[in-house]
Amino acid sequence: MALCGARYPRLRIFSALKCVAGWRNHRLQLKRCLNKNVTDALQAVAGADNVSTSTAVREQHGKDESYHGCKPPDVVVWPQNVEQVSRLAAICWANDLPIIPFGTSTGLEGGVVAVRGGVCFDLTKMDKILELNTVDFDVTVEPGVTRKGLNNYLRGSGLWFPIDPGADASLCGMAATSASGTNAVRYGTMRENVINLEVVLADGRIMYTAGAQRRFRKTSAGYNLTNLFIGSEGTLGIITKTTLRLYGMPEAMVSAVCTFPTVQAAVECTVQVLQYGIPLARIEFLDDVMMDACNKYSNLNYAVSSTLFLEFHGTEKSLAEQIEVTAEIVKANKGSDYTWAKDQEPRDKLWQARHDALYATRALHPGCQAYSTDVCVPLSKLPEIIVATKEDLIKSKLTGTIVGHVGDGNFHCLMVVDPEDKDEKRRMKELTDRLARRALAMHGTCTGEHGIGLGKRELLTEEIGAVGMQVMREIKAALDPKHIMNPGKVL
Ligand code: LAC
Ligand code: ZN
Repeated sequence: MALCGARYPRLRIFSALKCVAGWRNHRLQLKRCLNKNVTDALQAVAGADNVSTSTAVREQHGKDESYHGCKPPDVVVWPQNVEQVSRLAAICWANDLPIIPFGTSTGLEGGVVAVRGGVCFDLTKMDKILELNTVDFDVTVEPGVTRKGLNNYLRGSGLWFPIDPGADASLCGMAATSASGTNAVRYGTMRENVINLEVVLADGRIMYTAGAQRRFRKTSAGYNLTNLFIGSEGTLGIITKTTLRLYGMPEAMVSAVCTFPTVQAAVECTVQVLQYGIPLARIEFLDDVMMDACNKYSNLNYAVSSTLFLEFHGTEKSLAEQIEVTAEIVKANKGSDYTWAKDQEPRDKLWQARHDALYATRALHPGCQAYSTDVCVPLSKLPEIIVATKEDLIKSKLTGTIVGHVGDGNFHCLMVVDPEDKDEKRRMKELTDRLARRALAMHGTCTGEHGIGLGKRELLTEEIGAVGMQVMREIKAALDPKHIMNPGKVL
């Protein structure tokens, strides 16, 4: 052909055109038949009813609760066991298709947005609680089990799982994002409470981060693969099982609410209570705007001022002492309106209101989006950064609430922004960046519990540094050389 073309230029052009057209057709055909082939292969593994390409289903699976826009996957599949997840991953691997693990879609950093299309693995049909060991205080669950689902199941066993992000998130999703919540000050985050993970790698291999069926309380055996996957946000593998630590239900629980004249007083009180060594179960800060939003959304009637929600867990005797010392510190910081609750109903009402903080903020301006920041700083820096953030909100003419897991130095500024108002969005973005960089300058992190997702990749680089980032990329390349695992996230 080339020879012919060289001797007869017109023929050469003609064959080149034929070639391009053919290639195009071939590509189109290949794409069509690739799609059909892939969909058929996915259906052969998961069953025809468990694969969907409908627009509504794909759109439902292309977003979470963050401000990040929807990018739907090409296809959604619902595996029912780990063997299916493995075979489905192998299909994606063979066809270079992105894999996006999907749970309750309650994330706040765009973790499930399918930026390059691909196959969404909706894991909610794998919802069994596989093994409860009451004597050993551990439980193994599939990815569709949520934190509330697990605690309902544990009711009556004398055990509970304390990690509580606002939403009723899935426990494997919580492992993937290194979630925490209001109890972290006493019980830690997912990092401290996952014993083992079953993970399906990009090519379909199944691995156990601590070895198959192991569920020990401590280990010094080799690299910590469990914590490599916690917070990996679906970029290294699909978490299909998690073994978790459980805790004995405390003999007594008392919650308290107290009001402070200033942000500074409330936050300094927190620091002092912790410095005193009081083993608080929860200590949450809510500013005046947040209290107003909570009162309206959750039908409460607290003072609209800087406030702390606290909770104490322990024996009746130890609680009396914890409460007495805390009350003195509160008084010394000009805290007032101290209200107590021992019964479950008012305590549940209080904590549900706290968990609904994001929804309460969103309800301040119906039709607006809520954007959440999530910095975490050393405790000693907390009063300064919260006061600075509050001033920044006022200067930037933005509506935002401040709410925080202040016992850990972690807080959120939740801003309500009109998605149509470009200038407001710009001011929000600038405030967010200033806040994150203020936290980094104070030796803190740009995310305490929501993760990096789509929007904080640049900040991660600033936080970790060049060599650390290079190591992260090398780990990613070793586990996912084709870059099909949740592309566009974290790195
Ligand atoms: C909270 C979520 C926003 O603390 O992390 O309510
Ligand atoms: Zn939070």
